[in-house]
Amino acid sequence: MDGEVSHRVAVRPSGVELDVLDDEDVFTAAQRLGYRWPTLCGGKGTCRTCFVQVEEGAENCLPVGPLEREGIEALRRPVDGLTRLACRLRVQGPVTVTKRGVRRRVQE
Ligand code: FES
Repeated sequence: MDGEVSHRVAVRPSGVELDVLDDEDVFTAAQRLGYRWPTLCGGKGTCRTCFVQVEEGAENCLPVGPLEREGIEALRRPVDGLTRLACRLRVQGPVTVTKRGVRRRVQE
């Protein structure tokens, strides 16, 4: 990616590391880089299956938007910046999250 700024997002417990570009969300980055990320809606912000727990670097996450807020509330979790929807989560620096089920897509 010429000159594009990216940020390292580490995913526990799998140990996957994603370089997320400034203008993309974590879910999109994972797909671009060949990883499977739990989803039902395919990244539209409606299924909430993609949610993560932010472990480190919450200060590097952009604020929760209205659709994401709805999703987090529907998960019955506090909107405190630590539960986020990966398909809405954009970052400006290194972040560590916990999300089970993130793994490299099987080559066909
Ligand atoms: S992928 Fe469905 S809400 Fe994020």
